[in-house]
Amino acid sequence: MSVYTLAIESSCDETSAAVLRDGRTVLSNVISSQVPIHRRFGGVVPEIASRHHIEQVIPVIDQALADAKINLETIDHIGVTYGPGLVGALLVGVAAAKGLSLATGIPLIGVNHMEGHIFANFLANPDLKPPFLSLVVSGGHTMLVVVKDYEEFEVLGQTRDDAAGEAFDKIARVMGYPYPGGPHIDKLAMKGNPHAITFPKALQEDGNFEFSFSGLKSAILNYLNSAKLKNELINDSDVAASFQKSVIDILIKKTKDAAKQTGYTTITVAGGVSANRGLQQALTNMCEEEGFKFYKPNSILSTDNAAMIGCRAYYMAKANKFATLSLNAKPSIPIGDMSWK
Ligand code: KG4
Ligand code: ZN
Repeated sequence: MSVYTLAIESSCDETSAAVLRDGRTVLSNVISSQVPIHRRFGGVVPEIASRHHIEQVIPVIDQALADAKINLETIDHIGVTYGPGLVGALLVGVAAAKGLSLATGIPLIGVNHMEGHIFANFLANPDLKPPFLSLVVSGGHTMLVVVKDYEEFEVLGQTRDDAAGEAFDKIARVMGYPYPGGPHIDKLAMKGNPHAITFPKALQEDGNFEFSFSGLKSAILNYLNSAKLKNELINDSDVAASFQKSVIDILIKKTKDAAKQTGYTTITVAGGVSANRGLQQALTNMCEEEGFKFYKPNSILSTDNAAMIGCRAYYMAKANKFATLSLNAKPSIPIGDMSWK
């Protein structure tokens, strides 16, 4: 008999619900984005995000069930993101899932948002199986994770300061582009010269799998400020392409080194920044040169969505990892967190 998962995601500025069959077939994936609401503030305003989640969460769940042509009675378990993310935003999804679980008796599963991003790859790539190495690059996180099995992860390293997506968003904002800036930098970089300006790359020593993007961000801000003071013309495309090249060079070197050091030759990329065309091309080229297999999610599955949460919930249900009704929202949790227990 098939297993049906209902998943809910509300960790940042997307309210999303999805229905999956047997963990890897997406029957519906409804995403209500708040991007236009937060754009005029230049970033996500947590209080406003929570208020919109509370309006959207029930309609989005209803739509996901309707699109999947599934009744709540058919659902086997409800997976919900409980962290990491904005606590007020997370609480809306967690409270909705707990209410549904209490009213129907459907078992509840607390899902780690970052594990969800990694599991998006299972939806986009039906043949993908662990073990593999995952480069996770989102608005809040940058890390290299070994997925040894569906329930066994090892973080090799993560960022000491800004996440890759955060750096894209901040640079775009000072250049005058609206939130979220990543897609604008991506588009500009396609037309620019990546060798026009040399920006610094931190923590390049072999065997170091930590990341740092704050020095790169400051170098670009200094470049832009000093060009403005000298009344020099700024070529946005060249700045975007040169910045993006620095980020990509760092990500590629560390991913390649990590694969060589650990011996894992299947590579996946996950998180919103994985939608970046320059990064996808560079990973494809590196994996071809090194003889690694490379998998990526499509763009809907790379940014925040509930289908990826549903895929993770399905495997947690298989491992009997159910939460109780005391599940709480956690703004900051590591990969492999078990505090949902
Ligand atoms: O994973 P995600 O949707 O949300 C978090 O969990 O943080 O990632 C959002 C991030 C934002 O920083 C956004 O600018 C970035 O992903 N992003 C991109 C692209 N599309 C989204 N960054 C670079 N190039 C893109 N094409
Ligand atoms: Zn995310």
